[in-house]
Amino acid sequence: MTLEPAVSTGLQLIRLLADGDCHSGAALARCLRMTRAGVWKALHKAVEDYGLALETIPSHGYRLASPLELLEPERILGGFGAAGGSRLARLEVHDQLGSTNERLMAAAVAGEAAGTVCLAERQTAGRGRRGRVWVSPFGTNLYLSVLWRYPVGPAGLGGVSLAAGVAVATVLHRYGLTDIGLKWPNDLLWQRRKLGGLLLEVAGEAQGPSHLVVGLGLNLRLDSDQAQGIDQPWVDLREALGAAAPGRNQLAAALIDALLEMLERFGQVGLTPYLAEWARFDLLRGKPVQLQLGERLILGDYAGIDPDGALRLNTADGALSVHSGEVSLRFPTVAAAPRSADELL
Ligand code: BTN
Repeated sequence: MTLEPAVSTGLQLIRLLADGDCHSGAALARCLRMTRAGVWKALHKAVEDYGLALETIPSHGYRLASPLELLEPERILGGFGAAGGSRLARLEVHDQLGSTNERLMAAAVAGEAAGTVCLAERQTAGRGRRGRVWVSPFGTNLYLSVLWRYPVGPAGLGGVSLAAGVAVATVLHRYGLTDIGLKWPNDLLWQRRKLGGLLLEVAGEAQGPSHLVVGLGLNLRLDSDQAQGIDQPWVDLREALGAAAPGRNQLAAALIDALLEMLERFGQVGLTPYLAEWARFDLLRGKPVQLQLGERLILGDYAGIDPDGALRLNTADGALSVHSGEVSLRFPTVAAAPRSADELL
Protein backbone atom coordinates (compact mmCIF):
# COMPACT_ATOMS: atom_id res chain seq x y z
CA MET A 1 0.00 0.00 0.00
CA THR A 2 1.27 3.47 -0.81
CA LEU A 3 0.36 6.63 0.99
CA GLU A 4 0.57 9.86 -0.89
CA PRO A 5 3.85 11.75 -1.07
CA ALA A 6 4.65 14.77 1.13
CA VAL A 7 1.50 16.85 1.51
CA SER A 8 1.60 20.59 0.86
CA THR A 9 0.78 23.01 3.66
CA GLY A 10 -2.39 24.05 1.85
CA LEU A 11 -3.64 20.48 1.74
CA GLN A 12 -2.73 19.90 5.36
CA LEU A 13 -4.90 22.90 6.21
CA ILE A 14 -7.76 21.56 4.10
CA ARG A 15 -7.48 18.22 5.90
CA LEU A 16 -7.65 19.98 9.27
CA LEU A 17 -10.76 21.83 8.13
CA ALA A 18 -12.37 18.82 6.42
CA ASP A 19 -14.52 18.11 9.51
CA GLY A 20 -16.57 21.23 8.73
CA ASP A 21 -15.94 22.71 12.21
CA CYS A 22 -14.63 26.20 12.81
CA HIS A 23 -10.87 26.27 13.53
CA SER A 24 -9.10 29.35 14.81
CA GLY A 25 -6.11 30.72 12.91
CA ALA A 26 -4.06 30.35 16.09
CA ALA A 27 -4.91 26.65 16.48
CA LEU A 28 -4.17 25.94 12.82
CA ALA A 29 -0.89 27.83 13.08
CA ARG A 30 0.06 25.83 16.20
CA CYS A 31 -0.73 22.53 14.49
CA LEU A 32 1.40 23.25 11.47
CA ARG A 33 4.08 25.28 13.29
CA MET A 34 3.59 28.37 11.21
CA THR A 35 2.42 31.95 11.70
CA ARG A 36 -1.23 33.01 11.56
CA ALA A 37 -0.41 35.19 8.57
CA GLY A 38 1.12 32.13 6.90
CA VAL A 39 -2.08 30.17 7.63
CA TRP A 40 -4.21 32.90 6.10
CA LYS A 41 -2.13 33.01 2.94
CA ALA A 42 -1.76 29.24 2.47
CA LEU A 43 -5.41 28.59 3.21
CA HIS A 44 -6.76 31.15 0.78
CA LYS A 45 -4.47 29.87 -1.93
CA ALA A 46 -5.45 26.25 -1.25
CA VAL A 47 -9.20 26.84 -1.35
CA GLU A 48 -8.81 28.76 -4.58
CA ASP A 49 -6.58 26.08 -6.14
CA TYR A 50 -8.88 23.25 -5.08
CA GLY A 51 -12.17 24.98 -5.85
CA LEU A 52 -13.49 24.90 -2.26
CA ALA A 53 -15.59 27.47 -0.44
CA LEU A 54 -14.15 28.87 2.80
CA GLU A 55 -16.08 30.79 5.44
CA THR A 56 -14.30 33.24 7.73
CA ILE A 57 -16.08 33.69 11.03
CA PRO A 58 -14.95 36.95 12.66
CA SER A 59 -13.08 36.41 15.97
CA HIS A 60 -13.47 32.64 15.65
CA GLY A 61 -11.65 31.32 12.63
CA TYR A 62 -12.21 29.45 9.40
CA ARG A 63 -14.41 26.62 8.26
CA LEU A 64 -15.22 24.95 4.95
CA ALA A 65 -18.68 25.73 3.61
CA SER A 66 -19.28 21.95 3.38
CA PRO A 67 -17.41 19.26 5.30
CA LEU A 68 -15.40 16.75 3.27
CA GLU A 69 -14.92 13.06 3.82
CA LEU A 70 -11.42 12.71 2.41
CA LEU A 71 -10.09 9.36 1.22
CA GLU A 72 -8.17 7.40 3.83
CA PRO A 73 -6.30 4.27 2.71
CA GLU A 74 -6.71 2.62 6.12
CA ARG A 75 -10.49 3.05 6.06
CA ILE A 76 -10.72 1.75 2.49
CA LEU A 77 -8.60 -1.29 3.37
CA GLY A 78 -10.72 -1.86 6.46
CA GLY A 79 -13.85 -1.99 4.30
CA PHE A 80 -12.68 -4.92 2.17
CA GLY A 81 -13.99 -8.43 2.44
CA ALA A 82 -11.29 -11.06 3.08
CA ALA A 83 -11.27 -12.22 -0.56
CA GLY A 84 -11.11 -8.66 -1.88
CA GLY A 85 -8.12 -7.98 0.33
CA SER A 86 -6.30 -10.95 -1.13
CA ARG A 87 -6.88 -9.76 -4.72
CA LEU A 88 -5.55 -6.28 -3.96
CA ALA A 89 -1.87 -5.84 -4.81
CA ARG A 90 -1.45 -2.17 -3.94
CA LEU A 91 -3.65 0.79 -3.07
CA GLU A 92 -2.55 4.26 -4.09
CA VAL A 93 -4.43 7.34 -2.92
CA HIS A 94 -3.35 10.63 -4.48
CA ASP A 95 -4.44 14.14 -3.61
CA GLN A 96 -4.24 15.04 -7.26
CA LEU A 97 -3.45 13.31 -10.54
CA GLY A 98 -3.93 14.03 -14.22
CA SER A 99 -5.93 10.83 -14.60
CA THR A 100 -6.03 7.65 -12.51
CA ASN A 101 -6.42 5.63 -15.74
CA GLU A 102 -3.41 7.30 -17.30
CA ARG A 103 -1.40 6.62 -14.16
CA LEU A 104 -2.23 2.88 -14.11
CA MET A 105 -1.76 2.39 -17.88
CA ALA A 106 1.77 3.77 -17.42
CA ALA A 107 2.30 1.72 -14.25
CA ALA A 108 1.22 -1.44 -16.13
CA VAL A 109 3.93 -0.90 -18.74
CA ALA A 110 6.42 -0.43 -15.90
CA GLY A 111 5.47 -3.87 -14.55
CA GLU A 112 2.94 -3.03 -11.82
CA ALA A 113 1.00 -6.09 -10.64
CA ALA A 114 -2.61 -7.05 -11.38
CA GLY A 115 -4.76 -5.83 -8.51
CA THR A 116 -3.18 -2.37 -8.25
CA VAL A 117 -5.78 0.26 -7.47
CA CYS A 118 -5.42 4.02 -7.79
CA LEU A 119 -7.72 6.72 -6.42
CA ALA A 120 -7.40 10.49 -6.57
CA GLU A 121 -9.10 13.29 -4.66
CA ARG A 122 -9.15 15.19 -7.90
CA GLN A 123 -8.13 14.75 -11.52
CA THR A 124 -6.85 17.60 -13.62
CA ALA A 125 -7.22 15.69 -16.91
CA GLY A 126 -9.92 13.11 -16.12
CA ARG A 127 -10.70 11.05 -19.20
CA GLY A 128 -14.24 10.24 -20.28
CA ARG A 129 -15.41 8.02 -23.13
CA ARG A 130 -15.16 9.25 -26.70
CA GLY A 131 -12.49 11.86 -25.87
CA ARG A 132 -14.66 13.72 -23.36
CA VAL A 133 -13.26 15.28 -20.20
CA TRP A 134 -14.47 13.77 -16.92
CA VAL A 135 -15.26 16.60 -14.52
CA SER A 136 -13.26 15.72 -11.38
CA PRO A 137 -13.39 18.34 -8.60
CA PHE A 138 -11.57 17.82 -5.29
CA GLY A 139 -12.69 15.72 -2.38
CA THR A 140 -16.31 14.91 -3.15
CA ASN A 141 -16.73 12.25 -5.85
CA LEU A 142 -14.94 8.98 -6.62
CA TYR A 143 -12.30 8.62 -9.32
CA LEU A 144 -10.76 5.18 -9.20
CA SER A 145 -8.93 2.81 -11.50
CA VAL A 146 -8.08 -0.86 -11.20
CA LEU A 147 -5.35 -2.70 -13.10
CA TRP A 148 -5.70 -6.33 -14.13
CA ARG A 149 -3.70 -8.65 -16.38
CA TYR A 150 -4.88 -11.42 -18.71
CA PRO A 151 -3.02 -14.10 -20.65
CA VAL A 152 -5.16 -13.43 -23.76
CA GLY A 153 -4.88 -10.51 -26.19
CA PRO A 154 -7.19 -7.46 -26.10
CA ALA A 155 -9.61 -9.10 -28.56
CA GLY A 156 -10.28 -11.81 -26.00
CA LEU A 157 -11.67 -9.30 -23.51
CA GLY A 158 -14.90 -8.45 -25.35
CA GLY A 159 -17.69 -7.65 -22.94
CA VAL A 160 -15.51 -6.94 -19.89
CA SER A 161 -16.81 -3.36 -19.85
CA LEU A 162 -20.36 -4.68 -19.50
CA ALA A 163 -19.32 -6.95 -16.66
CA ALA A 164 -17.71 -3.92 -14.99
CA GLY A 165 -20.96 -1.97 -15.31
CA VAL A 166 -22.89 -4.85 -13.74
CA ALA A 167 -20.39 -5.03 -10.84
CA VAL A 168 -20.78 -1.31 -10.08
CA ALA A 169 -24.57 -1.23 -10.54
CA THR A 170 -24.90 -4.23 -8.21
CA VAL A 171 -22.99 -2.44 -5.44
CA LEU A 172 -25.12 0.70 -5.83
CA HIS A 173 -28.30 -1.39 -5.86
CA ARG A 174 -27.17 -3.02 -2.61
CA TYR A 175 -26.85 0.45 -1.07
CA GLY A 176 -30.50 1.10 -1.86
CA LEU A 177 -30.28 2.65 -5.31
CA THR A 178 -33.00 0.37 -6.64
CA ASP A 179 -33.58 2.29 -9.87
CA ILE A 180 -29.97 2.35 -11.02
CA GLY A 181 -29.66 1.39 -14.68
CA LEU A 182 -27.02 0.79 -17.33
CA LYS A 183 -26.92 2.23 -20.81
CA TRP A 184 -24.76 0.26 -23.21
CA PRO A 185 -21.90 -0.13 -22.86
CA ASN A 186 -21.46 1.09 -19.30
CA ASP A 187 -23.06 4.43 -18.47
CA LEU A 188 -24.58 4.44 -14.99
CA LEU A 189 -27.86 6.32 -14.97
CA TRP A 190 -30.35 7.16 -12.29
CA GLN A 191 -33.73 8.40 -13.45
CA ARG A 192 -32.21 8.95 -16.89
CA ARG A 193 -29.45 11.19 -15.57
CA LYS A 194 -25.81 10.27 -15.57
CA LEU A 195 -24.51 9.24 -12.16
CA GLY A 196 -21.26 7.74 -13.33
CA GLY A 197 -19.36 6.07 -16.10
CA LEU A 198 -16.64 3.58 -16.81
CA LEU A 199 -13.69 3.97 -19.11
CA LEU A 200 -11.80 0.79 -19.94
CA GLU A 201 -8.37 0.96 -21.53
CA VAL A 202 -6.52 -2.10 -22.74
CA ALA A 203 -3.15 -2.79 -24.31
CA GLY A 204 -1.09 -5.84 -25.08
CA GLU A 205 0.05 -8.31 -27.68
CA ALA A 206 -2.54 -9.59 -30.16
CA GLN A 207 -1.97 -13.16 -28.94
CA GLY A 208 -1.63 -12.03 -25.29
CA PRO A 209 -0.77 -11.15 -22.68
CA SER A 210 -2.69 -7.93 -22.15
CA HIS A 211 -3.37 -5.49 -19.37
CA LEU A 212 -6.62 -3.74 -18.68
CA VAL A 213 -7.41 -0.63 -16.65
CA VAL A 214 -10.99 -0.16 -15.50
CA GLY A 215 -11.65 3.47 -14.58
CA LEU A 216 -14.76 4.49 -12.68
CA GLY A 217 -16.01 8.01 -12.12
CA LEU A 218 -19.00 8.32 -9.79
CA ASN A 219 -20.72 11.57 -8.82
CA LEU A 220 -21.24 11.62 -5.07
CA ARG A 221 -21.58 15.34 -4.54
CA LEU A 222 -21.35 17.65 -7.51
CA ASP A 223 -22.41 21.30 -7.42
CA SER A 224 -24.03 22.86 -10.47
CA ASP A 225 -21.19 25.36 -10.91
CA GLN A 226 -18.71 22.46 -10.99
CA ALA A 227 -20.90 20.61 -13.48
CA GLN A 228 -21.04 23.39 -16.04
CA GLY A 229 -18.78 21.46 -18.42
CA ILE A 230 -21.07 18.40 -18.47
CA ASP A 231 -23.03 18.22 -21.70
CA GLN A 232 -25.80 15.87 -20.56
CA PRO A 233 -28.29 15.60 -17.69
CA TRP A 234 -26.44 14.46 -14.57
CA VAL A 235 -27.14 13.55 -10.98
CA ASP A 236 -25.15 12.81 -7.84
CA LEU A 237 -25.57 10.21 -5.12
CA ARG A 238 -26.50 12.89 -2.60
CA GLU A 239 -29.67 13.56 -4.60
CA ALA A 240 -30.34 9.93 -5.48
CA LEU A 241 -29.90 8.47 -1.98
CA GLY A 242 -30.12 11.46 0.36
CA ALA A 243 -29.05 10.77 3.92
CA ALA A 244 -28.77 7.04 3.14
CA ALA A 245 -25.76 7.66 0.87
CA PRO A 246 -22.70 5.75 2.11
CA GLY A 247 -19.44 7.53 2.91
CA ARG A 248 -16.77 7.84 0.25
CA ASN A 249 -14.31 5.44 1.91
CA GLN A 250 -16.93 2.78 2.55
CA LEU A 251 -18.27 3.02 -1.00
CA ALA A 252 -14.78 3.02 -2.50
CA ALA A 253 -13.98 -0.20 -0.62
CA ALA A 254 -17.17 -1.91 -1.79
CA LEU A 255 -16.62 -0.85 -5.42
CA ILE A 256 -12.96 -1.87 -5.49
CA ASP A 257 -13.85 -5.21 -3.90
CA ALA A 258 -16.56 -5.83 -6.52
CA LEU A 259 -14.38 -4.76 -9.46
CA LEU A 260 -11.46 -6.94 -8.35
CA GLU A 261 -13.79 -9.91 -7.98
CA MET A 262 -15.31 -9.27 -11.40
CA LEU A 263 -11.91 -8.91 -13.10
CA GLU A 264 -10.67 -12.19 -11.69
CA ARG A 265 -13.92 -14.02 -12.50
CA PHE A 266 -14.12 -12.61 -16.01
CA GLY A 267 -10.71 -14.17 -16.71
CA GLN A 268 -12.09 -17.55 -15.64
CA VAL A 269 -15.61 -17.56 -17.09
CA GLY A 270 -16.01 -14.54 -19.40
CA LEU A 271 -19.16 -12.47 -19.82
CA THR A 272 -21.77 -15.27 -19.78
CA PRO A 273 -22.62 -15.18 -16.05
CA TYR A 274 -23.10 -11.40 -16.23
CA LEU A 275 -25.58 -11.37 -19.12
CA ALA A 276 -28.67 -12.03 -17.02
CA GLU A 277 -27.68 -9.28 -14.57
CA TRP A 278 -26.95 -6.96 -17.44
CA ALA A 279 -30.48 -7.52 -18.77
CA ARG A 280 -31.86 -6.62 -15.32
CA PHE A 281 -30.10 -3.22 -15.34
CA ASP A 282 -30.45 -2.61 -19.10
CA LEU A 283 -32.23 0.70 -19.73
CA LEU A 284 -32.61 0.30 -23.49
CA ARG A 285 -34.36 -3.07 -23.54
CA GLY A 286 -37.09 -3.19 -26.19
CA LYS A 287 -36.68 0.48 -27.14
CA PRO A 288 -36.22 2.21 -30.49
CA VAL A 289 -32.71 3.67 -30.50
CA GLN A 290 -30.26 5.57 -32.61
CA LEU A 291 -26.60 4.79 -32.82
CA GLN A 292 -23.96 7.36 -33.69
CA LEU A 293 -21.15 5.41 -35.32
CA GLY A 294 -18.50 7.87 -36.46
CA GLU A 295 -20.28 10.07 -38.98
CA ARG A 296 -23.15 7.60 -39.46
CA LEU A 297 -26.45 7.75 -37.63
CA ILE A 298 -28.10 4.34 -37.58
CA LEU A 299 -31.73 3.92 -36.56
CA GLY A 300 -33.04 0.66 -35.24
CA ASP A 301 -34.69 -1.31 -32.48
CA TYR A 302 -32.46 -2.38 -29.66
CA ALA A 303 -32.28 -6.18 -29.65
CA GLY A 304 -30.07 -6.87 -26.64
CA ILE A 305 -26.48 -7.92 -26.23
CA ASP A 306 -24.44 -10.57 -28.06
CA PRO A 307 -22.51 -13.09 -25.96
CA ASP A 308 -19.34 -11.03 -26.56
CA GLY A 309 -20.97 -7.79 -25.37
CA ALA A 310 -21.75 -6.26 -28.78
CA LEU A 311 -24.90 -4.16 -29.09
CA ARG A 312 -27.54 -5.80 -31.33
CA LEU A 313 -29.78 -3.63 -33.46
CA ASN A 314 -32.59 -4.57 -35.83
CA THR A 315 -32.49 -1.96 -38.59
CA ALA A 316 -34.42 -1.52 -41.84
CA ASP A 317 -31.39 -3.09 -43.54
CA GLY A 318 -31.27 -6.11 -41.27
CA ALA A 319 -29.65 -7.09 -37.97
CA LEU A 320 -26.43 -5.41 -36.91
CA SER A 321 -23.96 -5.95 -34.06
CA VAL A 322 -21.57 -3.18 -33.02
CA HIS A 323 -18.79 -2.95 -30.45
CA SER A 324 -18.52 0.84 -30.37
CA GLY A 325 -20.64 3.94 -30.87
CA GLU A 326 -22.92 6.18 -28.85
CA VAL A 327 -26.43 4.87 -28.44
CA SER A 328 -29.46 6.90 -27.36
CA LEU A 329 -33.20 6.51 -27.25
CA ARG A 330 -35.08 7.44 -30.40
CA PHE A 331 -38.48 9.01 -30.28
CA PRO A 332 -40.37 7.90 -33.38
CA THR A 333 -42.94 10.70 -33.54
CA VAL A 334 -42.92 14.38 -32.66
CA ALA A 335 -45.73 13.80 -30.17
CA ALA A 336 -43.58 11.28 -28.33
CA ALA A 337 -40.47 13.47 -28.31
CA PRO A 338 -38.97 14.22 -24.89
CA ARG A 339 -40.44 17.24 -23.13
CA SER A 340 -37.19 18.18 -21.47
CA ALA A 341 -33.52 17.32 -21.53
CA ASP A 342 -34.18 15.25 -18.41
CA GLU A 343 -36.12 12.75 -20.47
CA LEU A 344 -33.25 12.05 -22.80
CA LEU A 345 -31.21 8.97 -22.15
C1 BTN B 1 -17.55 8.08 -19.26
O1 BTN B 1 -17.29 8.94 -20.11
O2 BTN B 1 -18.72 7.78 -18.98
C2 BTN B 1 -16.45 7.35 -18.53
C3 BTN B 1 -15.87 8.22 -17.46
C4 BTN B 1 -14.75 7.54 -16.67
C5 BTN B 1 -14.12 8.49 -15.69
C6 BTN B 1 -13.15 7.79 -14.79
S1 BTN B 1 -12.67 8.76 -13.40
C7 BTN B 1 -11.45 7.60 -12.99
C8 BTN B 1 -10.83 7.14 -14.28
N1 BTN B 1 -9.75 8.02 -14.67
C9 BTN B 1 -10.04 8.69 -15.78
O3 BTN B 1 -9.28 9.54 -16.31
N2 BTN B 1 -11.24 8.35 -16.24
C10 BTN B 1 -11.84 7.33 -15.41
